[in-house]
Amino acid sequence: MLDKLSLDGRSIVVTGGGTGLGRAMVRALARAGADLVIAGRRQAPIDEAAAEVEGLGRRAVAVSTDVSDSAQVERMVAVARDVLGRVDVLVNNAGRTAENVHAPIWDITDEEWRAGIATNLTGAFYCARAVARQMVDQGRGKIINVASGYGLRGGRDMYAYTCSKGGVIQLTRTLAMSLGRYGVTANTIVPGFIPTRGTDSMRDALPRSGEFIPTGKLGTPEDMGPIAVFLASDASDYMNGETITLDGGGLAGGLAPTGHAPIIPLDLG
Ligand SMILES: NC(=O)c1ccc[n+]([C@@H]2O[C@H](COP(=O)([O-])OP(=O)(O)OC[C@H]3O[C@@H](n4cnc5c(N)ncnc54)[C@H](OP(=O)(O)O)[C@@H]3O)[C@@H](O)[C@H]2O)c1
Repeated sequence: MLDKLSLDGRSIVVTGGGTGLGRAMVRALARAGADLVIAGRRQAPIDEAAAEVEGLGRRAVAVSTDVSDSAQVERMVAVARDVLGRVDVLVNNAGRTAENVHAPIWDITDEEWRAGIATNLTGAFYCARAVARQMVDQGRGKIINVASGYGLRGGRDMYAYTCSKGGVIQLTRTLAMSLGRYGVTANTIVPGFIPTRGTDSMRDALPRSGEFIPTGKLGTPEDMGPIAVFLASDASDYMNGETITLDGGGLAGGLAPTGHAPIIPLDLG
């Protein structure tokens, strides 16, 4: 049964794979047998991630890429094909978390709005577009999009982030509807509160302790690994257009720190 989860010989692109949740998914995918293309703007984190993958005995290539630039995305996918031969799975994880803007709507500049949508939503679209034709031609492929609980609800003064992440969930559904007949599936992971360097900018908006989460603890980046492996593997072949929430039950309980009311710890006694 566990053979179905094996990623032996699969070629997987992870955007934002040098840090945080992306790095944890890269590690898990490599441990499950995959070769990796790791994309992000800064060279140092993706080089470190590639070295870690090679240390696990898998092939890896780090390609400096700004996902909001379609020419850079096309080049990254071309490198992926040159080095690994094909792309079996795309993980759209790059997100503008550290640079996320919290401000009253009247203070948000055109550029801040544009940049938030460009990275989180347009970047995911560009990457999906760049791999889709080849996945269709090979009759097989998986696209995994990383959204957020903020894609399912509002967030105070958080316009570009919430709107882009809601768009990512819709991008998944439309890819699922459009490409499923060619053997290409798309699914979304919705992470809850998982402290990373990227979430420091959302410090005021996020619970800082598990007292507010039904399971009584915050998530860790490593929690993303098994879900990514499952969605990248044959075990999830009949899952398409789905949204998997990984948040300790936060959204299930209606937990929504909007800033309009104090966050009240759950009685976990
Ligand atoms: N941590 C959480 O609680 C949480 C919750 C819900 C959703 N998420 C989502 O999970 C994903 C990962 O977040 P994280 O918490 O792991 O934060 P993170 O460590 O800041 O990761 C973001 C990654 O995206 C890359 N990136 C940003 N802009 C990019 C661009 N234009 N082109 C290419 N790469 C870009 C960054 O690398 P460079 O800066 O080098 O480009 C970085 O590696 C994000 O999509 C985030 O929205 C996180």
